[in-house]
Amino acid sequence: MGKKQILLNAFNMNCVGHINHGLWTHPRDRSSDYRLLPYWTELARVLERGLFDGLFLADIVGVYDVYRRNVDVTLSESIQLPVNDPALLVPAMAAVTRHLGFGVTVNLSYEEPYLLARRFSTLDHLTEGRIGWNIVTGYLDSAARAMGRAEQLPHDERYDRADEYLDVLYKLWEGSWEDDAVRRDKAGRVYADPAKVHRIEHAGRYYNLEGYHLAEPSPQRTPVLFQAGSSGRGQRFAARHAECVFISPPNREAARETVRTLRRQLVEAGRRPGDVKVFVGAAVVPGATEAEARERHADYLHYASREAGLAHFAASTGIDYAQYDLDEPVDYRPGNAIESAARTAQAHGWTRRKLLEMFALGGRYPAIVGTPAQIADELQKWVGEADVDGFNLSRTVVPESYEHFVDLVVPELQDRGIYKTAYAEGALRHKLFGAGDRLPVRHAGAGFRRHAVR
Ligand SMILES: Cc1cc2nc3c(=O)[nH]c(=O)nc-3n(C[C@H](O)[C@H](O)[C@H](O)COP(=O)(O)O)c2cc1C
Repeated sequence: MGKKQILLNAFNMNCVGHINHGLWTHPRDRSSDYRLLPYWTELARVLERGLFDGLFLADIVGVYDVYRRNVDVTLSESIQLPVNDPALLVPAMAAVTRHLGFGVTVNLSYEEPYLLARRFSTLDHLTEGRIGWNIVTGYLDSAARAMGRAEQLPHDERYDRADEYLDVLYKLWEGSWEDDAVRRDKAGRVYADPAKVHRIEHAGRYYNLEGYHLAEPSPQRTPVLFQAGSSGRGQRFAARHAECVFISPPNREAARETVRTLRRQLVEAGRRPGDVKVFVGAAVVPGATEAEARERHADYLHYASREAGLAHFAASTGIDYAQYDLDEPVDYRPGNAIESAARTAQAHGWTRRKLLEMFALGGRYPAIVGTPAQIADELQKWVGEADVDGFNLSRTVVPESYEHFVDLVVPELQDRGIYKTAYAEGALRHKLFGAGDRLPVRHAGAGFRRHAVR
């Protein structure tokens, strides 16, 4: 058997400041060009040159108004505000690439499943099977208020509703059109066979509908399903639905524990331990020599904003750190934001000072700084010790951060035999799992196929 291959996603967002805040002020940084298509098409080309598996696009509905109870730092540092729609970027990037996958975040809490199903089918058609969906339910009260609700649903109930939402989607994606429904028979005047297209019905606690899926079957039908919640309820949701899970643990031991629990739950849900690929967030600053890498890192640190990193984390945990002195213990009582983030912060007793120290590069992912060999060593340690499958690489200064990775680190990974030297053919799902373009039969969604054996 060959060596385990590392998977790579670029982690990005249709905004200025994503994870490593403040770096937009670096003289070479071009992230404020996020509004323009060339910024994205050039990024897509660089990633495909580096044989990246995917570009993972985060998204947020709502604003970060927890820190100081206002949006002042959020706006002045551009912490994911302004933010444009990620899905609209995909067709342009797909047009200049052939293999790169796209994982797009869409919050299901404020979208009807019937319309979301068509949007992803459209993207799957236009990308010829390269689309993934990062399923999120939101964690901001500011989003709920903006959408006319008093507050969000409670944390665990958001997942209950999401479970039902996914059932509706599977009915539409997997059950409405049979595989041979589309004939495109000009002589016989039959585009689609009426006997093979079915109205689906759903009567549930949160959703009631009946209808035909608007889109004809796309290469993958169900997009590759990404998910990033790692609370207890979040992991149960992942065990049923997710194919790729994104984690941001504080260290390898914590990662190993999270991955072990997830893989065990997969088996309990009738799936295999390898049915989910786990990606860990990382920020990488490479250099041709160690001195060059350290110099580059020091240069970046000069422009990074620790306070913006803290304001971002405040929204993630729902805690206004500004109300605490630097060394005062923080009251991490259960809230309604990202439970796993708050739990980690509580377990480590992170004070405001500690968080500011951790966010030196403006964000929560510790930077891996060094030569290609040193970076490859570190990535291999994560894969070996924590049983993760790959990395979501956050950007630092753009576009150079991805260019440096592709030009310096990718060849090192290839030399070690732990990274592909060419893309496989097939849809994104097939590229990731090597077992066909469609959901495997043991996935919950496959049970909604018309002739599925349950
Ligand atoms: C690494 C990571 C990335 C996430 N990215 C997003 C995102 O782009 N948009 C979003 O609305 N939520 C995002 N979330 C929030 C999760 O989707 C989920 O709502 C949150 O983690 C709460 O679930 P949990 O308490 O089960 O972890 C992210 C969470 C994590 C841990």
